[in-house]
Amino acid sequence: MSDLSVVSNGLKLPNPFVIGSGPPGTNANVIGKAFDENWGAVICKTVSLDASKVVNVAPRYARMRATGTKEVIGWQNIELISDRPFETWEDEFKRIKDKYPDRVLIASVMEEYNKEAWVEMIERCQACGVDAFELNFSCPHGMPERKMGAAMGQDSELLEEVCGWVNHAATVPVWAKMTPNVTHIVDPARAALRAGCEGVAAINTILSVMGVDLETLRPEPTVEGYSVPGGYSCKAVRPIALRMVMELAAMMYGDDSSGSESEDDFKDRTISAIGGVESGEHAAQFILLGASTVQVCTGVMIHGYKLAGRMCDELSAFMDKHGFNSIEEFRGHSLKYFSTHADLVRRQAEAKATQKAANEGMVTKDTAWEGDNFVAQSSKLVANDD
Ligand SMILES: Cc1cc2nc3c(=O)[nH]c(=O)nc-3n(C[C@H](O)[C@H](O)[C@H](O)COP(=O)(O)O)c2cc1C
Repeated sequence: MSDLSVVSNGLKLPNPFVIGSGPPGTNANVIGKAFDENWGAVICKTVSLDASKVVNVAPRYARMRATGTKEVIGWQNIELISDRPFETWEDEFKRIKDKYPDRVLIASVMEEYNKEAWVEMIERCQACGVDAFELNFSCPHGMPERKMGAAMGQDSELLEEVCGWVNHAATVPVWAKMTPNVTHIVDPARAALRAGCEGVAAINTILSVMGVDLETLRPEPTVEGYSVPGGYSCKAVRPIALRMVMELAAMMYGDDSSGSESEDDFKDRTISAIGGVESGEHAAQFILLGASTVQVCTGVMIHGYKLAGRMCDELSAFMDKHGFNSIEEFRGHSLKYFSTHADLVRRQAEAKATQKAANEGMVTKDTAWEGDNFVAQSSKLVANDD
């Protein structure tokens, strides 16, 4: 079996599969279950200092199924961050680290625009032994009304300031989780990296309206007859997540051929990819586009924690097929095949010309000379025959 282990910002993971922040990491019990099922790392459900302000509603999920089947392809939620007291989380962080000292536990955290609150939260989580932080700048519903989550992630200046506070206080790696609900995801990502974050995670859910009930004429999910736009996840978002991860990788790892004097060098920073992953093949695609780790949230809600074992087998089979011995050996491999549309047009014209020449038996490359056919091939290249 290929070596699936990953070292990301110094964190040692047995495989690249990480539980994404959400219900699958919502308390010590389920986090333990994830480690028992060999997940590479776990990111807890996002925590904040004052959970009493977090009030969830039900129903808070809505699902989109493929036509005529039971297969879930899209999932909308209007769930908030954790409604469990921070003190309970402190207790559970310690218990998890006591029981699984060698496993990577990442605290997902969110706070209001208040330096003291962010610093207090970072210091208290660190005291419990968490291995890294993921800053939730991306929850698209509920929290923005308190200027948290995506409201912060959509304002690069604010984001850079908050990341600066956190990185000043943090002694462990920090990832900034980006919202896809922006025009250019690279702008806030660059701000987070400039402020010292070791990595970026992308994407959180895409702001959406799941549908309108044609009997009641009410939008869904309906709570007492009313609704709010929520966050869209699952398979349906994967192509958008792949595009955004590709854009981040191009910004962080691409060669700057413009000759500009940019001082930004993010080559040692990492990307944790998220969005619609349910198989080893899906994960391989994100890694080919530059991701070091791959998170799964909705996939675990649909398939359960045993998904990690299947995904490891599938990723390993992919690596064996291509002769890749490690994740690092193929990380970012496919980035070089992205180009501009004008370049695609040029390449196609060139390919057509080569094909036409080949059809006419004309030698366009030295390797095409055949000894037997040499005289005929030579005469086809003669411009005039006086
Ligand atoms: C029900 C639900 C709750 C979520 N809660 C959080 C959260 O508390 N913090 C966070 O950063 N992301 C949260 N997310 C977003 C996921 O971590 C992930 O970014 C997103 O769902 C896309 O990945 P997926 O298709 O694998 O679910 C939640 C997603 C779902 C479906």
